[in-house]
Amino acid sequence: MLAIKDSVAVITGGASGIGLALSKYWLENGGKVVIGDVVADALENVKKELTGDVETILCNVTKEEDCAKLADAAIASFGQINLVAPFAGIIKDGLMVSTDRETGKVTRKMALDQFKAVIDINLTGVFLTIRECAERMINNHCKGLICLVSSTGSLGTAGQINYSSTKAAMSVMPKVITAEFFRRGLANQIRCVAVAPGYVGTPMVKAMPEKVLDNIVAQVPIGRLVEPEEVAALVGDIYRNEALAGEVFFIHGGLRLGSKG
Ligand SMILES: NC(=O)c1ccc[n+]([C@@H]2O[C@H](COP(=O)([O-])OP(=O)(O)OC[C@H]3O[C@@H](n4cnc5c(N)ncnc54)[C@H](O)[C@@H]3O)[C@@H](O)[C@H]2O)c1
Repeated sequence: MLAIKDSVAVITGGASGIGLALSKYWLENGGKVVIGDVVADALENVKKELTGDVETILCNVTKEEDCAKLADAAIASFGQINLVAPFAGIIKDGLMVSTDRETGKVTRKMALDQFKAVIDINLTGVFLTIRECAERMINNHCKGLICLVSSTGSLGTAGQINYSSTKAAMSVMPKVITAEFFRRGLANQIRCVAVAPGYVGTPMVKAMPEKVLDNIVAQVPIGRLVEPEEVAALVGDIYRNEALAGEVFFIHGGLRLGSKG
């Protein structure tokens, strides 16, 4: 079993939602945290709010040099990286093509920008974050976990062709990375998994219209949104348990998509 105490977590999107909950969880358990986020004000607030060994870095995960700086900052400040949690993410929902109810003709298409913005942050940004952190973990002989965040959306959600595609990618990456590390004799040193939440009570979800949110909660057997703290605790449990590798762990309060049966 690994201990969180004195371990170092690099968390992107750590100024809000699940990333922020994970940052607090890591600190409460005696760990050290390096938070990267693109919103400067939110980072300032987090810096004031959190106590313990915390570094905050302004970082846009779509930029190679920012991700390199983030990983370097962790090594410079704390000498190691043990958890990589690339949790920066966005949604920009919409139908691929929308049709007029009366004429049946296409009236609107998802813009390329709307598609690419989500791919850039949720997929390319994750790739850059974990690539830069993995390089430093290997070169500095760090033991630990790369924990991606997928979603129940990885199974395919209407209106989320951009988001669902990135989350499906997150569910295959742990297998690719674990296999690559196994080939190089690194898989017992650095594990890779993904957590896949259902609907979590974070700003991203709470920004949805009330009616949409009510309909969502009505589909969740536990009768509520998952709490960000519950996702953070799952990441902690997976980190400690070294038998967990290469897998996707769902946390959704019993949600079964499209079925109450
Ligand atoms: N909330 C949910 O229900 C839910 C469910 C499944 C998966 N997820 C995933 O969990 C992750 C966190 O979601 P959340 O609900 O906590 O969202 P959130 O909006 O509360 O937080 C996301 C954070 O990412 C940051 N961010 C956005 N773009 C960035 C960029 N280019 N560079 C650096 N930081 C950037 C934002 O500033 C914000 O602080 C996302 O990947 C999301 O897809 C969320």
